[in-house]
Amino acid sequence: MKAIQAGLLGIGTVGTGVYNVLQRNQAEIKRRAGRGIEITMVADLDTARAQSLVGPDVKVVNDARAVIANPDIDIVIELIGGYGIARQLVMEAIEAGKHVVTANKALLAVHGTEIFAAAHRRGVMVAFEAAVAGGIPIIKALREGLTANSIEWIAGIINGTTNFILSEMRDKGLDFDVALKDAQRLGYAEADPTFDIEGVDAAHKATIMSAIAFGIPVQFDKAYVEGITKLGAQDIRYAEQLGYRIKLLGITKRTSKGVELRVHPSLVPAKRLIANVEGAMNAVVVQGDAVGTTMYYGKGAGSEPTASAVIADLVDITRLHTVDAANRVPHLAFQPDQMSDAVV
Ligand code: HSE
Repeated sequence: MKAIQAGLLGIGTVGTGVYNVLQRNQAEIKRRAGRGIEITMVADLDTARAQSLVGPDVKVVNDARAVIANPDIDIVIELIGGYGIARQLVMEAIEAGKHVVTANKALLAVHGTEIFAAAHRRGVMVAFEAAVAGGIPIIKALREGLTANSIEWIAGIINGTTNFILSEMRDKGLDFDVALKDAQRLGYAEADPTFDIEGVDAAHKATIMSAIAFGIPVQFDKAYVEGITKLGAQDIRYAEQLGYRIKLLGITKRTSKGVELRVHPSLVPAKRLIANVEGAMNAVVVQGDAVGTTMYYGKGAGSEPTASAVIADLVDITRLHTVDAANRVPHLAFQPDQMSDAVV
């Protein structure tokens, strides 16, 4: 069966990861999706650099609209970020009948209602696993694994940059600015790092989780947002002496008055699991009425962890479009006719 064709808008840290992981694991991904997934077109302002990152068979253009207009492209992957041109392109891709995969939490937290309504009207999917907590499949957990539950609350470390800064300040006594520069160098921080350190990025992600968990519109404008810029080394030290760690938590909670949505530094008892989540790692705790407490942990930022989530969405969309000659949908976990390795 012909491979699904995807077009990439923006090939930076995450886009490069998506291309490389798709190449490296293509046989396994094809088996799981029921059909190959290929990036056949890339749009980026720096076409020479972009072409050097992908194979010669990939068409590289500097006009994202050329990707959207290409009738062979089934899925548009938006990795430009921000609310500006990315919003227009996502809307245009939807109107053109393309499925969209995006890691753009800012866009979804602010304009998600408009975007999801357009996708619903047009009958296409907008998938966004990579928008929250990088490689942790928290969107799937909330929508699929925990779907039976009435969610009571979610609390998470959902910004790798600030968790990295807090860890470096505590463990190595580094200054805030030095730790931030390291986070930028390692590719964790947003293009505008004030989004990280002022809690805005975490609030974008908490807003998206809140909408999914509680079935409410995305309402970033209602979130209480406080970052870590007012914290000093002595706050971290005093917390430690009292048996706590300071963590920037994104919290959303069902209450009798409505849904709470907030991001702020929190004192967490040092023996709690989440207090021991260090560096750029993320962790999300979800409390459901049936399942009780569950916790998800992993890399919340970086090239291949985020690519892992983007590709999961590509596979999801591909499976929805795929039935084999015998009218069977591909089964993600178990395909007896395609198994090769025996247990030894
Ligand atoms: N700037 C984000 C972070 C990247 O530090 O977590 C992943 O969304």
